[in-house]
Amino acid sequence: MKRTIIITGGAGFIGSHVVRLFVNKYPEYKIINLDKLTYAGNLANLKDVEDKPSYKFVKMDICDFDGVYKLMQDEHVDGIIHLAAESHVDRSIKDPFTFAQTNVMGTLSLLQAAKLYWESLPEKWEGKRFYHISTDEVYGALELTHPQGIQPPFSTKASSGKHHLAYGDKFFTEDLKYLPHSPYSAAKAASDHFVRAFHDTYGLPTVVTNCSNNYGPYQFPEKLIPLFINNIRHKKPLPVYGKGENVRDWLYVEDHARAIDLIFHKGKVAETYNIGGFNEWKNIDLIKVLINTVDRLLGRAEGEDLNLITYVTDRAGHDMRYAIDSSKFQKELGWEPSLQFEEGIEKTVRWYLDNQEWMDNVTSGDYQKYYEEMYKGR
Ligand code: NAD
Ligand code: DAU
Repeated sequence: MKRTIIITGGAGFIGSHVVRLFVNKYPEYKIINLDKLTYAGNLANLKDVEDKPSYKFVKMDICDFDGVYKLMQDEHVDGIIHLAAESHVDRSIKDPFTFAQTNVMGTLSLLQAAKLYWESLPEKWEGKRFYHISTDEVYGALELTHPQGIQPPFSTKASSGKHHLAYGDKFFTEDLKYLPHSPYSAAKAASDHFVRAFHDTYGLPTVVTNCSNNYGPYQFPEKLIPLFINNIRHKKPLPVYGKGENVRDWLYVEDHARAIDLIFHKGKVAETYNIGGFNEWKNIDLIKVLINTVDRLLGRAEGEDLNLITYVTDRAGHDMRYAIDSSKFQKELGWEPSLQFEEGIEKTVRWYLDNQEWMDNVTSGDYQKYYEEMYKGR
């Protein structure tokens, strides 16, 4: 079947993996990467697909309602996978307005354009889908709890029925009340509410997923994993917020992209699915794994760089623990993470070490010239 899908934020970290997966797996689809190219957008993330005939890049702000509406009409768009967002919590603490503008108003502009265009067609919602990618952070924070006398992480099972290591006995499930704490998660929560409102009010065929922390190639080095790999390589201090005891649930980005593919095609309209790896790590333990892996791969004595760990002032409102229960999605649609964390981290560290040029272009700012250089005249 032919389809025309807009993927917003396709030049970012997760979006570039989703674009790559769709362009390679569905050559019969037209894939339009709609991205404003903020500091987080890097078209060099998509060098390997940019010349494929079914791929098109459109530089556009999702807040530009007229532009989005016209693009949908001109291209006969029947699906939207919405990833564009301001995504970094620390930036949201310094500049909340940009987060409200892009994450809330931008999502609203896409929803309204999709609603007006699809509603105007004879078949209306038939064969249409608006898929909104959200985060586990909308649920707030979980506590660190453990059975008396047992040192965390301890073996437990969420409703998945499978045993895994955890730092608490509670998990984020789809029925939880939203309790966002940061301006980033508050803006994402607001956007999720708008998406549901467009289904409930107008019948727009929506689906929402809330995913845990992603890691892997092409992540902007303001986020913990790429920032620390690069700092270890260059023997620069590693700024650990607070005591390093916060817990995150890590998922390899290609597993998230596979999940998005499955849900876009098979997820139920108006549903919410949580996506996570049942893979909780305390920051400080994860950082030690990063140090040991970088040291080993660079032929340094393992642990030589542990002295780079530098405890700094905690992030304001720092959420203690995120832990997703993704069993609903796993049971309904048969998805499983494909990689063990040790494998995923090894692959990720190797990728950043092998792609120093990508990292240098990002840290120097040169990556922002890529669009002018590659797309002038197109
Ligand atoms: P990112 O910051 O790497 O990329 C965001 C992309 O959106 C960039 O290409 C940027 O240019 C684009 N963009 C920003 N504002 C825009 C605008 N106004 N108009 C058009 N494009 C714009 O983000 P990411 O980490 O890849 O996250 C993608 C999505 O997934 C976000 O919605 C985020 O909330 C969500 N998410 C991320 C994670 C994670 O661990 N990174 C986990 C769960 C959910
Ligand atoms: O949970 C999903 C979310 O994961 C996504 O919605 C966000 O877009 C994404 O940025 C990520 O948010 P986090 O705040 O968890 O990710 P970050 O990489 O910024 O931080 C991970 C943990 O590491 C967090 O507890 C803060 C800590 N940290 C981070 C940085 C950048 C440090 O200790 N030092 C640092 O320098």
